[in-house]
Amino acid sequence: MLYQYTPLKKKLKKNTPRHVAIIMDGNGRWAKKRNEIRAFGHQAGLKAVKKTVKFAIQNKIEVLTLYTFSSENWQRPKFEVASLLKLFLFALKNEVKNLNKYNICLKVIGDLTVFNEELQSYIYNVEKITLNNSGLILNIAANYGGRWDILEGVKKIVNAVQNRYLDINKIKETIFSQYLCTHGLLPVDLVIRTGGEKRISNFLLWQIAYSELYFTDVLWPDFNKFIFQDAINCFSSRERRFGRIIKD
Ligand code: IPE
Ligand code: IPE
Ligand code: MG
Repeated sequence: MLYQYTPLKKKLKKNTPRHVAIIMDGNGRWAKKRNEIRAFGHQAGLKAVKKTVKFAIQNKIEVLTLYTFSSENWQRPKFEVASLLKLFLFALKNEVKNLNKYNICLKVIGDLTVFNEELQSYIYNVEKITLNNSGLILNIAANYGGRWDILEGVKKIVNAVQNRYLDINKIKETIFSQYLCTHGLLPVDLVIRTGGEKRISNFLLWQIAYSELYFTDVLWPDFNKFIFQDAINCFSSRERRFGRIIKD
C-alpha cells in the first residue's frame, strides 16, 4: 500500500521566534547560594526581567510571556507570597513610564480576582495606559495555571453554546483558542525554562503543543542576553515539522 503524505514543498525557513514564553525559575536557589532570604532572589529576578525585556525589544520579538506566579505558588510561606505580590505592585508602579517610553503593551493573564483591590486596579490601569502601544507585547502570567486557563475556556464556551451564541458543531481548535487567556496573541514559538528543572509546572499547556523547548541550568537572576541569544540560536537551528515530513 502506498503511504500517503503531504510533504512540505521546501524546507521551512529558519526563523527567529516571534513569541517567546519564559518560566523564570531559580530565584530562591540564587538567594540561598548567597546566604540571603528568598525574597532577595526575587528582587534580583526583577532586574533580570528588565534586561530580558530590553533584549526582546532589540531582537524584535513581538510577544514575551513571563511566568511570574503560578496558581500553585500560593502554597509557599505567607511571607514569600506577600513579598512576591509586593514586588509585582512595585514593578507596575515603577515601570509604567518605561513601558510607554519603549512602546510596550502590558497584558496580565491569570486569575486576578484573588489579588487585593490595589493590585487589581493597578493592573487594569497599566493595561489601559499601555493598550495602544504597538511595540513588544509583554504578557505577564500572574496567578496563572494552564489547567485553570483551559477550564475557564471550557466554562465560557459552554456558556456560549447554552446561550446559542455558538453552534457546538462549529467548535474547532482555532475557535477554542479564542476562549483562552492568550486569545489574539501569536502562537508560542519558544519556551525557555531557567533553573535546571525539565518540566512545565502548569504554565501554558494548550498553547505549547508545538512550541520548541529550551532548558538551561542558569538560575533566573543570572539570565542574560548571551543565554537568551543561545536559546534563539537553538530555536533557529531546529526544524519544525508539525508532524509533517520535509521533502529533500
Ligand atoms: C521562581 O523562582 C520564581 C517563582 C516561582 C515565583 P523560585 O522561587 O521557584 O526559585 P527556586 O526554584 O526555589 O530556586
Ligand atoms: C514555576 O516555578 C513557576 C514560576 C516560575 C512562576 P516553580 O518553582 O513554582 O515550579 P516547581 O514547583 O519547581 O515545579
Ligand atoms: Mg522554583
